[in-house]
Order: sequence, then structure tokens, then C-alpha cells
Amino acid sequence: MIWLIGNKGMLGTDVEQKLKASAFDYSASDMDVDITDIGALRNFSKDKKIEWIINCSAYTAVDKAEDEAGKAFKINADGAGNVALVAKERKAKLIHFSTDYVFDGTKSEAYIENDMTGPIGVYGRSKLKGEENILQTLSEHFIFRISWLYGHHGANFVHTMLRLFGERDEVRVVNDQWGSPTFAEDVADLIIKIIRENSTAYGIYHFTNGGRTTWYEFTREIHRLAKEIGLKKNDIKITPVSTAEYPTKAKRPANSCMSKTKIEKTLGVKIRPWQESLVEFLSEKVL
Ligand SMILES: NC(=O)c1ccc[n+]([C@@H]2O[C@H](COP(=O)([O-])OP(=O)(O)OC[C@H]3O[C@@H](n4cnc5c(N)ncnc54)[C@H](OP(=O)(O)O)[C@@H]3O)[C@@H](O)[C@H]2O)c1
Repeated sequence: MIWLIGNKGMLGTDVEQKLKASAFDYSASDMDVDITDIGALRNFSKDKKIEWIINCSAYTAVDKAEDEAGKAFKINADGAGNVALVAKERKAKLIHFSTDYVFDGTKSEAYIENDMTGPIGVYGRSKLKGEENILQTLSEHFIFRISWLYGHHGANFVHTMLRLFGERDEVRVVNDQWGSPTFAEDVADLIIKIIRENSTAYGIYHFTNGGRTTWYEFTREIHRLAKEIGLKKNDIKITPVSTAEYPTKAKRPANSCMSKTKIEKTLGVKIRPWQESLVEFLSEKVL
């Protein structure tokens, strides 16, 4: 059976829906089984025959993490290590998620998996330590670094923009940070594929939707499509600003584009353009 950890989060909710739709035998937990408590993890798993653990739980408050380093590291580093240890003890394979924020963003091209990491914020550092803890504990791991995640459940950039389009005449959006949006349902499909194929091609992989954009261009496309689909009726001024004009507590990488060549070649994963996934996401909102 499969153990899905973090089933109440943005990604975890979509993964659970796909597990259900594919009729997989699974158990799920969230804050009720605290990943920072190894005893709780052992206790939950002790009578179960677990083949796969999918860890969608994390501390994801990027700005708040700057003031809560202890908590971020406890969950993202120690917690991830605990999950890997329990996976080892139960002889289960682990699927875990990391982030583009493990990079410093100074590379001019897309990052590959072996590129040197160098997180510039607490969240990225805590996620990188989580990767390291897993690598030291368990060989049978898949770590997917994803970026700019959005989905139907929970707070994310697309939801924020859709709300602001209805509340404001103008939104000011950063136009000098480059990256790739990732639709949570596409990540969930990837997980189903890995488990269905019982893959053993363990390692770290980059996975996002295809293409690159800035938050500003992403916003323009969200608005254009929302109008086209009929989700929004009003026009709005979308103004590009620089990172310097829009300061945030945590620094973000200027370039966090990640190459998908490894995952395409090794796991045979098809990467959808970000625009295609965004159309699907917004269309699902009007259904
Ligand atoms: N969101 C992004 O843009 C993004 C980008 C790149 C990578 N990622 C990675 O993708 C993965 C999924 O992210 P997401 O946005 O779906 O996260 P999310 O919505 O914040 O969900 C994480 C879930 O884990 C739970 N959780 C927190 N601490 C826990 C603990 N100690 N024990 C058990 N459960 C705990 C959370 O509960 P509470 O809500 O009650 O805290 C929440 O239900 C994470 O690994 C994240 O780092 C996300």
C-alpha cells in the first residue's frame, strides 16, 4: 500500500484525488501524524505493509521562514529525514518534493540536477538540508524539485491574482524573476506514473511545466485566459515592477528555471507547456 503524508496541503490534495481515481490502496495523514515525531511515524506505519511513501508535507511559508528558521528546519530538514528513516525501516520507497529555491538564481541558463546549490533564504536552506538528510538515509528515493506550484486547493499565486483582478484596478507584478509554473495536477499525474511503473530509477529530478516566464508575464496570461474563458469580465492594469520595487522578507532567485531533460530521458515524462496547463486549470474553475 501507499502512505500519503501531507494529504491536506495543495499538492497532497491533488495526489490523493488521483490515488483514489486510480483505485490505489493507500493511507493518508497530515498534521495528525507529525513528521517531526519519529515515534508518531513509526506508530502510524507499524501494522501496515507500505511499499511507497509520498511526502507532500512541508513548511512552505517562504517569507515567514526568515523569522521561523527553527520551525522550518525542524519540518523540512529533520521531518524529511524522519520520513526517510521510517521508509528505510519499512523497506518502502520514498517520493519527496523539493524546490527551485535550493539555487541562488545567478545562472543564466536552466539549472540541471547536478548544478551547485546555494539557497539564498531560510526556506530554500531548510529544503536543501531535507534533500541531504534523505540522500544520507535512503537510496530508494525520488526527490522532485518543483517550482511556482499552483492548484485548486489552498493559497497560491494564481488564486491570489484571480482574487486581485476582482478587487483592484491595477496590480504591480515583478518582471525580473524568471521561472516555470507547475500545475499540481501534473505533478500528481507524474507520481501516479512512477508508482504504476514501479520505477527504480531513483534520484533527484527537476519537474515543472514547460517554458519560462516572469511573474508579470504569467499574470498577463492568467488575466487574458480568465477573460477569454469567462471567469473574469473586467480589464485591469498590470504593471511590471522590479524586485527592488517589490521587496519581500525572503530573497527569491532571479532565475529559477530548471532543465527537464533528465526526467524526460530517464523517466519518459512528457512536459506540458505552462500555458496549456494554465488553460486546463482555469477551465476546471468554470466547469
Ligand atoms: N507551493 C509552492 O510554490 C512550492 C514550490 C516548490 C516546491 N514546493 C514543495 O512542494 C511540496 C508541496 O507543497 P504545497 O504547496 O502543497 O504545501 P502545503 O500546501 O503547505 O501543504 C503542506 C502540508 O503539510 C502539512 N504539515 C506541515 N507540517 C507538518 C508536520 N510537522 N507533520 C505533518 N504534516 C505537516 C501542512 O499542514 P498545515 O497547513 O496545517 O501546516 C499541509 O497540510 C512541499 O515539499 C513544498 O516544499 C512547493
